[in-house]
Amino acid sequence: MPVETLIWVGDRPGHVRMIEQTKLPTEYELLDVTTVEEMVDAIYRLAVRGAPAIGVAAGYGVLLGVQELEGLSAEEMLGRTREIAATLGKARPTAVNLFWALDRMVARAQNDLESGLAGDAIRDGLFDEAHAIFHEDQTTCEALGKHGAELIRDGGSYLTHCNAGALATANTGTALAPFYEAARQGKTIVVFADETRPLLQGARLTAWELMQEGIDVTLLTDSCAGRVMFEGKIDAVFVGSDRIARNGDVCNKIGTYSVAVLAREHGVPFYAVAPLSTFDREILSGDQIPIEERPPEEVTCGFGKQTAPEGVKVYNPAFDVTPARLVRGIVAERGVIEEPGRESVERVMREAGIELGE
Ligand code: MRU
Repeated sequence: MPVETLIWVGDRPGHVRMIEQTKLPTEYELLDVTTVEEMVDAIYRLAVRGAPAIGVAAGYGVLLGVQELEGLSAEEMLGRTREIAATLGKARPTAVNLFWALDRMVARAQNDLESGLAGDAIRDGLFDEAHAIFHEDQTTCEALGKHGAELIRDGGSYLTHCNAGALATANTGTALAPFYEAARQGKTIVVFADETRPLLQGARLTAWELMQEGIDVTLLTDSCAGRVMFEGKIDAVFVGSDRIARNGDVCNKIGTYSVAVLAREHGVPFYAVAPLSTFDREILSGDQIPIEERPPEEVTCGFGKQTAPEGVKVYNPAFDVTPARLVRGIVAERGVIEEPGRESVERVMREAGIELGE
């Protein structure tokens, strides 16, 4: 595993220890998170970020809220779990893994109540569930890496946007997992990382973690993506996702859509790599995905340096949606969904036991 992005420390009471990602790459600092409110803050500030890592953080966030509760009735424990989940659910709106993990925690409490467990036993079950989310994410990254590595050739050159690596998960990442796996298999690869304005996840995080692992990485400004494709330097694009609609539309970091359009123009295959926890069973198409808007200062005064006139109007959506027609394939833990569309995406979701309504 390249880095330990977040872990649960101790037993009970325990706490979450995470890499404070806002400080990377110049400072490597660990942050101890001990309360639900601190976890909401850590997720909002992007101390922990990336859809799967946010899901893991949410599960552990619930534990921070319930771990000291003793002697509650089953109904009281379920009620507290629901309240804590509602609080954590306000941290950020777009990555569906946050809600997927919280729903899973609440469902666990509900099922245990229905099985007749008392409040303390329900709390114990929540520990098992949060740790299961963590461990499943580790296994999922390995599967994504294996399937994705089949699309990578020895000597190939690949472009990625934002950070969908170890720092975004509990293991080797989603979009970066195929690179790690290909390298492990002995393939020589070159990665181009978009810097990813405004918060520079590509420059600060992707470049950093790939360099830690000795993978050849070259940093680009976002506006250089078209140029490297024009020069024939890119074999394929690999990105992660924050939410995938049932028709295969892929929501990811702002700028991903532009990369996908450029890839189509240049005949470069565009792949999204994401676990099934990122597929939203309730959303039929990408236009229904809530897009987070972040403060204007991230654009006008990034990292403490003012780069725009005081008071200028700013539009700062943190994500965009790439329509399924631009996506060559979605790499999920069960394999690659080629040319995704509603039929193929829903089939894979159903096969994984995800219940879909109309
Ligand atoms: O705002 P961020 O840094 O949380 O955005 C992260 C991304 O857009 C990632 O590409 C996505 O979450 C996939 S992470 C495996």
